[in-house]
Amino acid sequence: MDDELVNNVWLDEIDFIPDPAAKQRALEEFALYLNPQKVRVMRSAGLDIIEAQRSGPWVWDLDGRRFLDCFTSAGSFNVGRRNPRIVAAAHQAIDHLDHGNFLLCSEQKAELARRLAELAPGNLSCTMFGTGGGEAIDFAIKLARGATRRPKIISTLNGYHGHTGFALSAAGRAAFREPFEPLMTQFERVPFGDIDALVREIDDSTAAVLLEPIQGEGGIIVAPDGYLAAVRAECDRVGALLILDEIQTGLGRTGKWWASEHYGVVPDIMTVAKSLGGSLFSISATIFTEELREFLIPNPFIHLSTFGGSDVACAVALEVLNVIEDTGLVEHAAAMGELLFARLRAIAEENPSYIREVRGLGLMVGVEYVEDSLGPRMSYHLAQHGVLAIYSGNQPSVMRLMPSLVIEEPQVEYLIDAFRSALADLKEGQGPSESPTRAKRRPVRS
Ligand SMILES: Cc1ncc(COP(=O)(O)O)c(C=O)c1O
Repeated sequence: MDDELVNNVWLDEIDFIPDPAAKQRALEEFALYLNPQKVRVMRSAGLDIIEAQRSGPWVWDLDGRRFLDCFTSAGSFNVGRRNPRIVAAAHQAIDHLDHGNFLLCSEQKAELARRLAELAPGNLSCTMFGTGGGEAIDFAIKLARGATRRPKIISTLNGYHGHTGFALSAAGRAAFREPFEPLMTQFERVPFGDIDALVREIDDSTAAVLLEPIQGEGGIIVAPDGYLAAVRAECDRVGALLILDEIQTGLGRTGKWWASEHYGVVPDIMTVAKSLGGSLFSISATIFTEELREFLIPNPFIHLSTFGGSDVACAVALEVLNVIEDTGLVEHAAAMGELLFARLRAIAEENPSYIREVRGLGLMVGVEYVEDSLGPRMSYHLAQHGVLAIYSGNQPSVMRLMPSLVIEEPQVEYLIDAFRSALADLKEGQGPSESPTRAKRRPVRS
């Protein structure tokens, strides 16, 4: 396989028979057997999309409409959807392997862990595999508490780490936690980017500080200059560990392998998930130092996961790392990110009464509108113009643009054209007059 494969967008035309009736049936059954409110919200948001064909940066729905996927399941499709190399690796794995026996040692797990050790920053060289991001965070927190024998975990307001037990306890949004309280004790939250707040909270009972280097769900909030280094120094001062959640930011998304590299900071524990599965299999990894592995020596079976790092998923993940490396996808993401930023900033300058800021790193881009309701409304209009883009869960005024890293210049221009058309429709007052999620709407100055 050569670079051309990844530098093409693969299928760029429809390869199936659209079936609007099947779409309606799926939505009805989804409402009956899964979640009627989700169907209502998606319909009114213009996002009642049932995915059919998927290829590279594109997705087609059952109606036959094509979208440039700029949501990518919150950064899960860095190598593109159904990348031919990943599909071939998956076929090969399925022909010979299965999940594997979690209790035994495994060739595939060992090889993937070695590759992750080679790629991870600094001295992170040991891995525990899981099935998803939440599980990776859960283990990171267990390891931090187990290794330090300290109870306190400090995370950030508006941070997002998943919905499993420890991860949910660290969630930065109260609405996710409150129905399930009491959750785990001794979880504290501080504002992201505010080192003084961290200094006030951190002490010698702190096991770890848990952060996303760039808050994703929080609204693409980039760490201010010097912040991560200062957090690292505070952790070192009190003997706490630094956990960096690279589940959205990792694997080339920000134009470096890991976002921490932008800041020259090496964590003690790093979590990776989403794109590691190459859009085909679920797999996550908690990567940590050899020193921390000491905790597992007397406790080799203290954390188990039947499907975590299945042999098939490890084989696929290995090919994901190969594709990123030998197609230069990290550098490519940086170049496409620069182009996208330049184009979006020009639109923002022309439209200051709609767009407050464009920010991010590489292909992790946030467009902050001047008010909350514009996020959902622009999602609606962008969908009408063939772009799937969703606003941030914890910050509806911010639209996340996180396309596959295989995106090329023509797709960047396609996105920019769609953005301009969507904004024009919004100005003309087309589409839903208020946020489909009922975010409070204030008048927009034109
Ligand atoms: C930064 C971050 N951490 C953790 C998670 C949780 O991952 P998962 O949904 O696979 O449990 C997510 C999911 O969006 C995430 O964005």
